[in-house]
Amino acid sequence: MATETNADRNRQLGAIAESLGIPQIERHLFLCADASVPKCGDRETSLEVWEYLKQRLKELNLQPQVFRTKANCLRVCTAGPILAVYPDRVWYHSVTIEALERILQEHLLANRIVAELAFVTPPPCAPTPEPS
Ligand code: FES
Repeated sequence: MATETNADRNRQLGAIAESLGIPQIERHLFLCADASVPKCGDRETSLEVWEYLKQRLKELNLQPQVFRTKANCLRVCTAGPILAVYPDRVWYHSVTIEALERILQEHLLANRIVAELAFVTPPPCAPTPEPS
């Protein structure tokens, strides 16, 4: 049996990365959803928001440039669901479906932070979207 070399592994991973569009990623969204111990909201709501996020990223043609991850818990555990947008360094609270649609339209498409939902924003000198 042939042993896998590091080059083989890198080729395999490179193919997986290509199939996922990883080299084209510009933003990565982490949503606290389906937590094993839901502390910042109910599990059902977080899963509805997660499904909506997946659907809207497709409909808005934001893939593969926007990558998404369902995070079990983002350790904030208050006023969820919590959504982190990287590399923008913006964290949002109370991300209902309505709030998420606003974040998609204003932050992701128009490049303006939704100030009333953001509880962490980048330092003033950082090259990221302006608060609306
Ligand atoms: S359960 Fe949502 S951040 Fe921890």
